[in-house]
Amino acid sequence: MSFAPLDTSASLPLADTEIASLRQRLHNARHLLVLTGAGASAESGVPTFRDAQTGYWAQFSPEEMASEAGFLAHPQRVWDWYQYRRDLVRQVMPNAGHVALAQWQARHSGRMTLVTQNVDGLHQRAGSTPVLCLHGNLMDNRWLLPPKPCCDVRFTEGDAPPQCPGCGNYLRPAVVWFGEALPHAELQQAQDAAKACDLMLVIGTSGHVYPAAGLAHIAARGGAHVVVINPEPTALDSVADRCWRLPSAQILPALLA
Ligand code: APR
Repeated sequence: MSFAPLDTSASLPLADTEIASLRQRLHNARHLLVLTGAGASAESGVPTFRDAQTGYWAQFSPEEMASEAGFLAHPQRVWDWYQYRRDLVRQVMPNAGHVALAQWQARHSGRMTLVTQNVDGLHQRAGSTPVLCLHGNLMDNRWLLPPKPCCDVRFTEGDAPPQCPGCGNYLRPAVVWFGEALPHAELQQAQDAAKACDLMLVIGTSGHVYPAAGLAHIAARGGAHVVVINPEPTALDSVADRCWRLPSAQILPALLA
């Protein structure tokens, strides 16, 4: 495995003292909570969720492609969209930001809770463990309806999407769609970490999607120092103690080295 190279020659538009001050906070932190969103994978070449809807796919809204209603209305179209994204993710690699997070997590066992909204598996491929995946995993499937005894993934028919030959139940991507509940255990662990942390990094997320974005509010209410890392303004800037307008793969290696 190889990773996107880190350009250490690039000068960061941040004062050294600013980086040093956050590095000191990291050093002193009892517990660090990291929340990542689509932007954390942007420098790997994975388009953010909305940016991904280019070309043919631009004519459909995110809700049409990522909801049970959208799937039931057009199962093949939605399945094809996920197959397209799966093919794309297979061709990319974790970037220097993913790697820096994984290495810090390994060096500081038990001091970081890593929570992601991303379904691309790049944190795991960079070596992070554990990773709390709030929105599921792109590469996995599950049954659309609660499986009956006839539902066996080894014996499906059709492939776009595969169906149970007995009852017609569909396989669907094991991701959380609009309107669906997040996995209870992962969300609970993430919220517990938000209450307990004294430092939180909010990386590459627009901060518009809840309950994930709510983690930053919980952390701030509990007195944690909250840092947003994102080249663009976000909906969570108002709860942050500092906002670094930088791409994550550029700054995380310097911060977490
Ligand atoms: N580094 C850091 N942030 C970046 C970078 C980068 N290199 N490039 C883009 N960004 C930021 C954008 O500025 C934007 O704020 O990443 C964010 C991506 O926003 P969205 O595409 O809305 O992704 P996210 O906030 O993760 O969406 C959350 O909503 O669409 C659903 O289920 C989907 O998990 C997703 C959730």
